Amino acid sequence: MMETDFRNANIVVLTGAGISAASGLSTFRDQGGLWEKYPVEDIASPEGYQRDPELVESFYNARRAQLDASNVAPNAAHFALAKLEQEHQGRLLLVTQNVDDLHERAGSNQVLHMHGELRKACCPVTMQPFFMEQPFSAENVCQCCEKPQRLRPNIVWFGEMPIGMGEIEQALTECDLFISIGTSGTVYPAAGFIRLAKAFGAEAIDINLEPSYSSPFNIFMQGCATQQVPRMVESILSGEPIESTAEEALI
Ligand code: APR
Repeated sequence: MMETDFRNANIVVLTGAGISAASGLSTFRDQGGLWEKYPVEDIASPEGYQRDPELVESFYNARRAQLDASNVAPNAAHFALAKLEQEHQGRLLLVTQNVDDLHERAGSNQVLHMHGELRKACCPVTMQPFFMEQPFSAENVCQCCEKPQRLRPNIVWFGEMPIGMGEIEQALTECDLFISIGTSGTVYPAAGFIRLAKAFGAEAIDINLEPSYSSPFNIFMQGCATQQVPRMVESILSGEPIESTAEEALI
């Protein structure tokens, strides 16, 4: 149990695909996840895109279309984090590895998408991102270059630099509480955020269906994010102790 009163704490939250699972969006590494169906190196790497841009475009066009499906909407975990942003007295940085827009649709205004965003495209030369409605295709070119370039998904692929790392690292060194929600803790640099936060004195909470990280969290709230995140947010806002919901608290 953590007795600390976090009502005025500086908090960094990291979310992963698990927070959107209950909204109907596939995770990557769970059974039936995206990386079981698509080879990562073909779909989520600059080399794969160079080899076969149409294959990559079809993958992201399908995921973009899925965001507009009537059965895909923010869930209670997204809404709870939006409530935390609105009511928390201390600083809050919400970092997501997710490229969906469910945090924003739940009402979160300050979201740092460190792996990019499905709804945006970017010019491969300037890397300038902008919202784009139409699907990716060879006809879809930039307007910023003398020789118009084929627009690419505004997604950070393996081997590329995640977005906002300076801001994230600064916030991790200054936070009192680091919260990881629905991520397997397998992809760096995100997987290393807990170590940096703890090295600077933060306490840490992991919310997941099962223990995933190898790093030491103070509290492990086992269960679906739609149940655990609202509980945790209420505890933070009321200054109540936060308890592990599993036999082993990972200290
Ligand atoms: N509630 C809480 N956690 C859940 C839920 C749920 N309903 N459903 C799944 N999870 C957990 C799984 O136990 C797993 O630990 O979410 C995690 C999903 O892990 P991954 O599929 O690896 O997704 P993520 O951690 O976001 O991947 C990180 O890898 O391929 C890259 O760019 C991609 O951003 C992604 C990054």
